[in-house]
Amino acid sequence: MADARPFHWEYHPEQPAPEAFRIEGGRPLVGTVHVSGAKNAALKLLAAAVLTGERCRFENMPEIEDVRVMAEVLTDLGVVVDHPAQGVYEVAAGDVDWKFVPLEAAAKMRASFILLGPLLSRFGNVIISNPGGDRIGRRPVNLHVDAMRALGAEVAYRNGYYFAQAPGRLRGGEVTFPFVTVMGTENAMLAACLAEGTTTIRPAAQEPEVDDLMRFLVDMGAELERPQPDTIVVHGKRRLRGATHIVVPDRIETGTFLVAAAVTGGRLTLENAACGHVGALLEVFAKAGVPVACGAHSIEVDATGLRPGDLRAVDIETAPYPALATDLQPNLCVLLTQAAGTSHVHEAIFEDRLEWLSELRKLGASVDIVDAHHAAIHGPARLRGAETSIGDLRAGASLILAALAAEGTSLIHGAHHVQRGYENIDHKFQQLGARITRSADPA
Ligand code: UD1
Repeated sequence: MADARPFHWEYHPEQPAPEAFRIEGGRPLVGTVHVSGAKNAALKLLAAAVLTGERCRFENMPEIEDVRVMAEVLTDLGVVVDHPAQGVYEVAAGDVDWKFVPLEAAAKMRASFILLGPLLSRFGNVIISNPGGDRIGRRPVNLHVDAMRALGAEVAYRNGYYFAQAPGRLRGGEVTFPFVTVMGTENAMLAACLAEGTTTIRPAAQEPEVDDLMRFLVDMGAELERPQPDTIVVHGKRRLRGATHIVVPDRIETGTFLVAAAVTGGRLTLENAACGHVGALLEVFAKAGVPVACGAHSIEVDATGLRPGDLRAVDIETAPYPALATDLQPNLCVLLTQAAGTSHVHEAIFEDRLEWLSELRKLGASVDIVDAHHAAIHGPARLRGAETSIGDLRAGASLILAALAAEGTSLIHGAHHVQRGYENIDHKFQQLGARITRSADPA
């Protein structure tokens, strides 16, 4: 039964206390590091558990802020979320009191919009905040909404909220996107699992995290397949069951550690890493001249033999998987500061992902920001410690990388952005010999 808890205005009212990283750079990173489970799989898996009333269990979950936020959002809906051990979450969505995802959830984490599909298809209605609302910048979800409509849902938009209804049951249909969208594909897939009839999603995202979600859904009893790389077909079922799942390794964290070794002249072994998921990144490494060796579940990178100027400039362009991930673009920009010559960067997915390069300049990088989608990086640059500010998750990890490569001490404000998506990043780097601490921001 629905209780009368005031959920909305109590939702995580406190802001995270400001924290900063202090890094003494210029030390080669050496050792072995364990890659955590993928953030971009974990969040969708938690949402998928809402498709059944039975208990689901997830192992190798990253211990990151975004996962905690998603767990809180689910708890506020009345879902039971247990965290019995490090890296293990259990979700039981037998009783769901509210089919309402408030603005506070969307403001903290855009990925909360992934609850649209599962809540709508299981319960037939949901009210969910638009993460593209004026208060938190332009982040469109129109393709998610169009996908729900293609499955027979009625969706109205009022006062920053989508009111979605599917009287009876969603109906399978053709979901055709104008271009690839990762969460749009996932939302459509999650909704289609309990719809009546068959759904075809095209072009479907091919990211390893989408396939990880598909594997979990199949274990829940869903019927879905990928007959062609860019097509997913879902045959709807009346109900799904609980299942257990081990989260795929995080390929973005994998890339971050590979770049860390390369720019510090270090030698690292990454455990629980999937070479097959970072193919486009490894092509850039090969062109730049960074030696990498792939194992079955590990990757070794050895940059100890590289001298300043040995690395070669490489032009990079982001695109949907299997091409180069936009989430790895900022990390690679740090690598390219150390490459001899000019590297051209084309960020084709997002319009705001090159702005952080002005922070990278403060550390001595020679960068021209040509426009919202293009930049040029001239190297090799001698990086020096500096005071900088993190504006978002991926830029944050990249500023850490630059500070690790730089001579001298850096103070990096906005550490909480990195906590969103990297498990214990300061601790992991410390284990590899880095001098990095995170503490209350003195600013
Ligand atoms: C996901 C990842 C994010 C990654 C991105 C691209 C998660 C939680 N996040 O985000 O880390 O950077 O894929 O690989 O998995 N778009 C629209 N309308 C929509 C949806 C998207 O115009 O309704 C646009 C976006 O503005 C962007 C492009 O489509 O330009 C691709 O975005 P999309 O693949 O949807 O990114 P996300 O799934 O949000």
